[in-house]
Amino acid sequence: MAERERWETRIGLVLAMAGNAVGLGNFLRFPRQAALNGGGAFMVPYFCAFILMGIPLMWLEWTMGRYGGQYGRSTTAGQFDVMWRNKSAKYIGSIGISIPLLFAIYYIYIESWTLAYAFFSLTRKYFGISEMGKMNTFLQNFQGVNRGGEFFPTIFIAIFFWIITLLLNVVVIGRGISRGIEKLAKVAMPLLCIFGIILVIKILALGTPDPRYPDRSVMNGLAYIWNPNFSRLTDFSVWLAAAGQIFFTLSIGTGTIQTYASYLRKDDDCILTGLSTSATNEFVEVVLGGSIAIPIAVAFFGLATTQMIARQGSFDLGFVAMPIIFQKLPLGFIFGTMWFILLFFAGITSSVALTSPLMALLKENLGITRKHAAKIVGLTLFIFGLPIVFFLKHGYMDQYDFWIGTVFLAILALFESLVFIYTFSKAKVLSSGVKNKLLGYMKFGMDAGWEEMNRGADIKIPRIFYYILKYIVPIYLIVLFCGWLGQDLSSETSAILMRGVDARHAPFQWVARLSIIGVILGIAFLVRVAWNKKR
Ligand code: PHE
Repeated sequence: MAERERWETRIGLVLAMAGNAVGLGNFLRFPRQAALNGGGAFMVPYFCAFILMGIPLMWLEWTMGRYGGQYGRSTTAGQFDVMWRNKSAKYIGSIGISIPLLFAIYYIYIESWTLAYAFFSLTRKYFGISEMGKMNTFLQNFQGVNRGGEFFPTIFIAIFFWIITLLLNVVVIGRGISRGIEKLAKVAMPLLCIFGIILVIKILALGTPDPRYPDRSVMNGLAYIWNPNFSRLTDFSVWLAAAGQIFFTLSIGTGTIQTYASYLRKDDDCILTGLSTSATNEFVEVVLGGSIAIPIAVAFFGLATTQMIARQGSFDLGFVAMPIIFQKLPLGFIFGTMWFILLFFAGITSSVALTSPLMALLKENLGITRKHAAKIVGLTLFIFGLPIVFFLKHGYMDQYDFWIGTVFLAILALFESLVFIYTFSKAKVLSSGVKNKLLGYMKFGMDAGWEEMNRGADIKIPRIFYYILKYIVPIYLIVLFCGWLGQDLSSETSAILMRGVDARHAPFQWVARLSIIGVILGIAFLVRVAWNKKR
């Protein structure tokens, strides 16, 4: 058997894992969520979710991945299978392959916009558009949402950048873990941080850019995000939004961390390293992500307009407001290019992670070579991405974002924590050849999991996390899940029931749902084929 791929260096591992977590969510999703959900007060439920759910699940996923790696299992399908000796385990675990794949299908398209906009900044293509409505038209023309527009007559340019982005992803994953993903992270992550810091310093130095409007200042922008509005804390939806952001930003519940961690060595530390990558993500999200888009928008447009932009959508801030602002700065095209390259780096280090579980399934379980696997993944992304590109205006992508970017993350997290807490010990006892099966069943609990987690650790995990993992995490997840369902079903714009969706768009959104189900079933079927092959 070929030797298992490994991370080359510890710093490379940390940067790759941080690259997985640091993504578009840190710069586009976080500031908007914070601004809409009570500003500084949002940080209370946000940090609660981080400590009580994010960190423990992060450690759990690292441990699960490292454990599976010892048995040559790089995906959650294989890992669930060794941790929970049950026929259905691999199928439940297979959502740790389909979810990231579905995520990648739409995430890479957004990533390609950042590449295109980096190019438009450098060439000053959008320079001269000074009005928000016009800049929005520019974006929509580009996306082909309204065709035949004055800026882009066809969707061709968007498709061109999308294909380039797909190819770049394929090249990186085709080179493998240490020569592809690790190398990319070693270049992209430091550059991303440098660009982010330059932008933040530039923004902080702006003060009050237009003396005619003294209340349009960076200070007021920061105040808008950070001044706590504690009355919002009694609003359950703020807690749901905060937990959702933690999932999204840390990449938990997708199966990607488990796959990355499976390339660790048996006694490599999970705890300190997992903690440092999470801390890096939080620094980038809270400090850099929170100090760029919102403060600068307030400084140029004032508070009321910024609030309106934030309410409109995640892309309005990054792709509409920012390009207008860059034109007002001296050497603005350079700052514009920096902003979009930063987003692109954040995006690509995440999207290569999103494809890694499928890559692992193809290579390890179906015996396909890495180069071929990368091409197959690229083709899959292309085919399933086509409707994302062409049906954008029908809300096709919104269905993906709701189901994949929110609901399924929590489902996978719930399954993995239950497997880890309740079945792992049993499986370990049974596999260690204990004759008395009863003993195995009696050793019901997460002790084996806890022991596995602590092995090789460079720091000691406070004992309290044992209880947090065992009790708080599953309860948190169940409450969260029921909360989401309840909130959505009771809302006027229920995404589940597709209330308020225009009859012209509804069929497209149903196709989106069917394609999601199709991918989940298709991957489960591949897992079945792979396992039958093994026997
Ligand atoms: N964490 C990434 C972000 O913040 C998104 C992501 C989720 C990436 C899951 C990989 C896996 O944008």
